[in-house]
Amino acid sequence: MFIAFEGGDGAGKSTQTGLLCQELTRRGLTVLATREPGGTQIGEKLRSLVLDHGHGAIDARTEALLFAASRAAHAEQVIRPALERGEVVVTDRYIDSSVAYQGAGRSLGTGDVKALNGWATNGLWPDLTVLLDVHPAHGRHRRTAGAAAEDRLESEPDEFHQRIRNAFLDLAAAAPESYLVLDAHSPVDQLAAAILERVEQLLAGRGSVAQ
Ligand code: TYD
Repeated sequence: MFIAFEGGDGAGKSTQTGLLCQELTRRGLTVLATREPGGTQIGEKLRSLVLDHGHGAIDARTEALLFAASRAAHAEQVIRPALERGEVVVTDRYIDSSVAYQGAGRSLGTGDVKALNGWATNGLWPDLTVLLDVHPAHGRHRRTAGAAAEDRLESEPDEFHQRIRNAFLDLAAAAPESYLVLDAHSPVDQLAAAILERVEQLLAGRGSVAQ
C-alpha cells in the first residue's frame, strides 16, 4: 500500500506521517517512511539545488524538471521496490506537490505537470493521499515559529501559497475516493485518529491484518 501526505508548508505533515508510521509498525506491518524532495542520494542533491538559496535563478520549467527527476529516482529506486516487497510506503509529499507548487504556484499548468510526473514515475500513483489543508497565513506562522529559515518556495508570498492550497483541494475534489482531506488546524491526536481510521479501512479491504 502506498500512502502520500500532501499539504501546504507548515501543515504538520511530518508529525502525522511519523505518528502513522509508528502505529502501523506497532501493529507489525513493515513500513517505509520517506520524503520528497529527496529519498535517494541523487534526490537529496536535487533537493538542495532546488530549495537552498544561492544557486542563482531557477526558472519554473527547470524547477519542475528537477522535482520530477528527483521523483523518478525515488519511485524507481525506493518506492516501487518496497511495494514489491509488500511493505507499506508512506511518503511526505509526492506528485501532487509538483502539480500544486509548479503547476498552479508557478503557473506551468496542472495538466502538463501531472502528465510529466506520470511519465517520470512510470505511472506510480498512491492508493491514498492524505491532504492536510492549511490556511497560508497559518502555515507561515507555524513555519516561522520554528528555528529554520524559509527555503526558496516557502518564502514566496501568501498569494502563491493560496494558489497551491486551491490546487490541492481541486485534486482531492476530482477523485474523492483516493483522498482524505483534513483541516490541518485540528488537534494532532484528532488528525492522527482520522488518518488511522481511513488507513485501517484500506488495509481491511486488502485482507491485511492491522489491529
Ligand atoms: P518540504 O520537505 O515539505 O519542506 P521542509 O523540509 O521545510 O519540511 O518541501 C520542501 C519544499 O519543496 C516545499 O516548499 C514544497 C516544495 N516542493 C515543490 O515545490 N514541488 C515538489 O514537487 C515537492 C516535492 C516539493
